[in-house]
Amino acid sequence: MAAFVLPHLFFLFVLPYFSVAQTNGIVKVGATLTATEDATPWLSASGDFAFGFHRLDNKDFLLVSIWYDQVPDKTVVWYANGDNPAPRGSKIELTADRGLIFSSPQGEQISISDPIIGVVAYGVMNDTGNFVLVNKNSEPLWQSFNQFTDTLLPTQIMGNGKFLSSRQSESNFSQGRFQLSRLNGDLGLRTVNIPGNFRNDPYYFLSTGTSSGSGSGSGSGSGSGSSSDTLVFNKSGYLSIFRDGHELVLSQGDDARAYDFYHRVTLNFDGVLTHHSHPKAKTGNSTGTSSWTVLWTVPANICLSTVENAGSGVCGYNRICRINIDQRPECECPRPFSLLDPADDYRGCVPDFVQDCVNEPSSASNLYDFYVVTNIDWPTSDYDRLEPYDDVSCKEACLN
Ligand SMILES: *[C@@H]1O[C@H](CO)[C@@H](O)[C@H](O)[C@H]1NC(C)=O
Ligand SMILES: *[C@@H]1O[C@H](CO)[C@@H](O)[C@H](O)[C@H]1NC(C)=O
Ligand SMILES: *[C@@H]1O[C@H](CO)[C@@H](O)[C@H](O)[C@H]1NC(C)=O
Ligand SMILES: *[C@@H]1O[C@H](CO)[C@@H](O)[C@H](O)[C@H]1NC(C)=O
Repeated sequence: MAAFVLPHLFFLFVLPYFSVAQTNGIVKVGATLTATEDATPWLSASGDFAFGFHRLDNKDFLLVSIWYDQVPDKTVVWYANGDNPAPRGSKIELTADRGLIFSSPQGEQISISDPIIGVVAYGVMNDTGNFVLVNKNSEPLWQSFNQFTDTLLPTQIMGNGKFLSSRQSESNFSQGRFQLSRLNGDLGLRTVNIPGNFRNDPYYFLSTGTSSGSGSGSGSGSGSGSSSDTLVFNKSGYLSIFRDGHELVLSQGDDARAYDFYHRVTLNFDGVLTHHSHPKAKTGNSTGTSSWTVLWTVPANICLSTVENAGSGVCGYNRICRINIDQRPECECPRPFSLLDPADDYRGCVPDFVQDCVNEPSSASNLYDFYVVTNIDWPTSDYDRLEPYDDVSCKEACLN
């Protein structure tokens, strides 16, 4: 009898030891990832999400991130080191006492998963897109869903003190100029003047300012009794605001087909908040669209929404902003102006000529031409207001 039992036990205990380091989304303590192009990431059980090093446009640097692994462009939904991309050869190790530890090739170490109170038993790349470190009782010690970047995933909840922050550009994950955060309990989109952290007033409120409608005056931000919006992106892809038990649905998912689609809500680098969906590759036709579809977007016109007393708007100084079909801004230099930084579409334009009003007053009409640009406004920056006036006298006044 024992002769049969022994090999059987042997098989049971030895097999997991030799199997791949990671199964069913579980990441063992001691597991490591190295920042190279072809490193295998830590996958969730379904394979939908991956945690690992994502290659940036600048191929020498990688981003510690979570992405949709089945989507052709491997859409990034969370990142740890946007401001400090990792050089090749960097490492991540899951440790029991300090959680996820990042090491640079020079050996400097940073914890990605602070704070950890307790002992990590293992990590899980959950099929929801949440990377969770748990203790031996499977209680979460740290989770990526509590560290907000620019994207919300279904089942993620944004409560008090949390905010979304945009990235610098589509491919640069440094802190950008836009935030989704609370002001006196109300959720709104606003610009942040960087460098520094000065926040302008919201350019768009997601909630309707229910804080002042409760009859208790204007004390919305004043005391412990004041309530606050909570943003919930639920499993079926509905984005809602909850306050005092009331729900305001912002964007509708699709209960029936929720599980055939991936969903994400992203605060884009251009200040537009968008709910996207993408068909899952495994279900339905593999020939279906393999890109993200926009389901909902705010604000309706970011070009007009971000006109402020300070700052440059979405496109940068001296730049013409226009809205495309997805309600995303397209930026253009008026002529004869050119991009300040040819590599950055959003830093504004500079004139191609030297403007000098002092040394050439008499010959202005010989030096300057007028171009007609239609359907345009330069808000908040009119030089003068003269009435009644026509085109010719307006041009003359301008040259003088
Ligand atoms: C993934 O997350 C869901 C929802 O929070 C949870 O019910 C489930 O247990 C998690 N799965 C694992 C493997 O931890
Ligand atoms: C991203 O943008 C910031 C701010 O403009 C810049 O300092 C940084 O070098 C950029 N990062 C990359 C990887 O290009
Ligand atoms: C998501 O929210 C919508 C709107 O409140 C609701 O109809 C739907 O049942 C919710 N789905 C889940 C899975 O909770
Ligand atoms: C694609 O999907 C539609 C609807 O589900 C179905 O009617 C059609 O037969 C499918 N086509 C292919 C090539 O699978």
